[in-house]
Amino acid sequence: MRTLIVYESQFGNTAELARAIAASLEALGPIELCDVRKQTFDHHGVGLLVVGGPTRGHGVRKALVAALEQMPPDRGTAAAVLRR
Ligand SMILES: Cc1cc2nc3c(=O)[nH]c(=O)nc-3n(C[C@H](O)[C@H](O)[C@H](O)COP(=O)(O)O)c2cc1C
Repeated sequence: MRTLIVYESQFGNTAELARAIAASLEALGPIELCDVRKQTFDHHGVGLLVVGGPTRGHGVRKALVAALEQMPPDRGTAAAVLRR
């Protein structure tokens, strides 16, 4: 199963969490990490989607929102969210 971890991180805390989650999910198969500030991603064919970002002003930063908005709804994908 392909796993995609999409995150946004300015100071590195969320990136550290994303890497820890990737390490813990290694047994599931291929895992891709995508920092939306630096990379693009392809969510097609993903079996598990993990999305993470820091809380900023009681919300989510625009870079992460913009990245998620490009994803059309896919009812076959399991998803998890992390916030720190
Ligand atoms: C400008 C700014 C606004 C923040 N606003 C919140 C907030 O509303 N609630 C919260 O719990 N933490 C807030 N934080 C703390 C960040 O969520 C926290 O430092 C986070 O670990 C940063 O993640 P990053 O290292 O991945 O960028 C804020 C931090 C900054 C710099």
